[in-house]
Amino acid sequence: SLLDVVLNNNLDFDGYGACGGTLTCSTCHVILKKEDFDRLPDTPTEEENDMLDLAYEYTDTSRLGCQIR
Ligand code: FES
Repeated sequence: SLLDVVLNNNLDFDGYGACGGTLTCSTCHVILKKEDFDRLPDTPTEEENDMLDLAYEYTDTSRLGCQIR
C-alpha cells in the first residue's frame, strides 16, 4: 500500500499512518489529482469512506493511503 511505501522508505511524515493500516485513524489521508484517482483499480470500501468522513479537508478525490494498493 501507499502506507507501506512511506514506512519502508523512512519518509518523514510525522504521525502518518498512526493505526498501521487498520482503518482506525485517517492520518494516512491523501488528496489525489482527479486523473490519478480515476486510475486506481479500486474504489473506497464502505469502511474506508466511513473513516474518510472524519479526515481533515476531505475532497472527492481523497483516499486513505493504507488502502491504496
Ligand atoms: Fe490509519 Fe490508514 S493508517 S487509516
